[in-house]
Amino acid sequence: LGMVKSFKYIIVGGGVAAGYAAREFDRQGLKPGQLAIISKEAVAPYERPTLSKGYLNPNPKAAARLPEFHVCVGSGGDRLLPDWYKEKGIQLILGTEIVKVNLALKTLVSAAGEIFKFQTLIIATGSTVIRLTDFQVEGADAKNMFYLRELEDADKLVESIKMKKYGKAVIIGGGYIGLEVAAAMSINDFDVTMVYPDPWCMPRLFTPTMAAFYESYYENKGIKIIKGTVSVGFNANANGEVKGVKLKDGRVLEADIVVVGVGARPLTALFKGQLEEDKGGIKTDGFFKTSMPGVYAVGDVATFPIKLYNEMRRVEHVDHARKSAKHAVKAIKANETGKELEEYDYLPYFYSRTFELSWQFYGDNVGETLFFRDDNPLSPKPKFGSYWIKDGKIVGAFLEGGTPEENKAIAKVSRLNPPLENLDQLKKEGLSFASKF
Ligand code: FDA
Ligand code: NAD
Repeated sequence: LGMVKSFKYIIVGGGVAAGYAAREFDRQGLKPGQLAIISKEAVAPYERPTLSKGYLNPNPKAAARLPEFHVCVGSGGDRLLPDWYKEKGIQLILGTEIVKVNLALKTLVSAAGEIFKFQTLIIATGSTVIRLTDFQVEGADAKNMFYLRELEDADKLVESIKMKKYGKAVIIGGGYIGLEVAAAMSINDFDVTMVYPDPWCMPRLFTPTMAAFYESYYENKGIKIIKGTVSVGFNANANGEVKGVKLKDGRVLEADIVVVGVGARPLTALFKGQLEEDKGGIKTDGFFKTSMPGVYAVGDVATFPIKLYNEMRRVEHVDHARKSAKHAVKAIKANETGKELEEYDYLPYFYSRTFELSWQFYGDNVGETLFFRDDNPLSPKPKFGSYWIKDGKIVGAFLEGGTPEENKAIAKVSRLNPPLENLDQLKKEGLSFASKF
């Protein structure tokens, strides 16, 4: 029997949420040796969004590389380098995958057979990519086909970008990864084609009017967009390298690199049958407590109550990963000291950046939409957005090209849900309506 390593607190998963949780533990008071982070990845927690943005910058001087983007730089906080964890007596157990969990016995077992024991566990395993091989797409295991989730994936893609310079890239998927990586490949001088089944890009959030702007912006950058069809197979050369993408409609696209972004799936399998689940995630309360005492779940894996909407939801975005981690640690500490803590009260916030563009979204994208645009020809960048209106109230807002103040204004209006006396006024005022709050 291997040696058992015991910790008061263990975080399983070493991504965004784990890093922000470690910082909060330190703020709340932590003794050396109390906390361990166990991660499959070989590096300390970092800001994952960088992988599809600065990490793919073709300019070696401008490209983001670790240790630059360790947490918590993404939210204006201090950068936690591996030495920080050492100084604090936090054990970073890297390159270690947990393969078995027994929550009743409070033990975790790694792939190498090490056993870890905890008093309190935070589950922060995040998501994994959905693979085309999951649906038996023919030839989907060819070389130079990539997914993007972890640093290792990004390194492989960067290597291939160098090898296939001026080549053809096909991007499968028109969601977050598809749009961000298509832009990055175009900036890297690839001839880029995007393929997705939906009638417009990012249908999870974009209205047709918003999507039309991004699609024509991309087309003006030379990116070809093929909608309403999917890839059904891939051709490879004698070396097993991908050469063609076969579409359902019969066309075959040439390709030197294929990047697939067809969605993510929360990593909950380790806990199957041991924790209550909801909507595909691990069910928690407003303090991120799961159905098992002493076990918390945060970030992408948690299905938690959104107080604003009186609904259970899972959120796969970085702002929630950071805030849920912080809140869970506060809850753990409050539990120990008998202090009161408010329930998590989250206003959903998503953003993306591609080319010179940058948008933010706050709130809920349900109900009717009202599109607005800033037609000032002196505006240096495109500026437009949308409100979502439900039961006569603004419940969500999107803004492309906003200033920090304007972004704050749409966040505020999405949180306050002001009732609307008449839609015409909102239509007339557009963005300036939000700025009044
Ligand atoms: P996260 O995925 O960060 O971390 C999970 C960690 O657990 C990983 O290190 C994994 O290896 C580890 N792990 C899993 N199973 C394990 C096991 N069994 N044993 C040990 N370790 C295990 N969001 C946003 O709002 N804006 C953005 O611009 C972007 N951009 C973006 C780009 C890319 C390329 C990706 C992949 C994702 C984004 N996101 C985003 C989403 C955002 O990054 C995501 O929601 C958070 O990283 C979620 O944080 P978590 O800590 O929950 O998981
Ligand atoms: P996504 O859900 O945003 O988009 C998936 C896309 O793939 C959709 O457009 C869908 O219609 C399409 N699709 C589905 N099946 C397909 C098929 N067989 N062929 C072609 N297209 C298909 O997921 P993603 O873009 O893969 O992102 C993965 C995860 O990373 C998500 O959790 C996302 O939130 C996160 N992420 C977020 C950001 C951000 O917030 N800026 C950036 C990158 C990644």
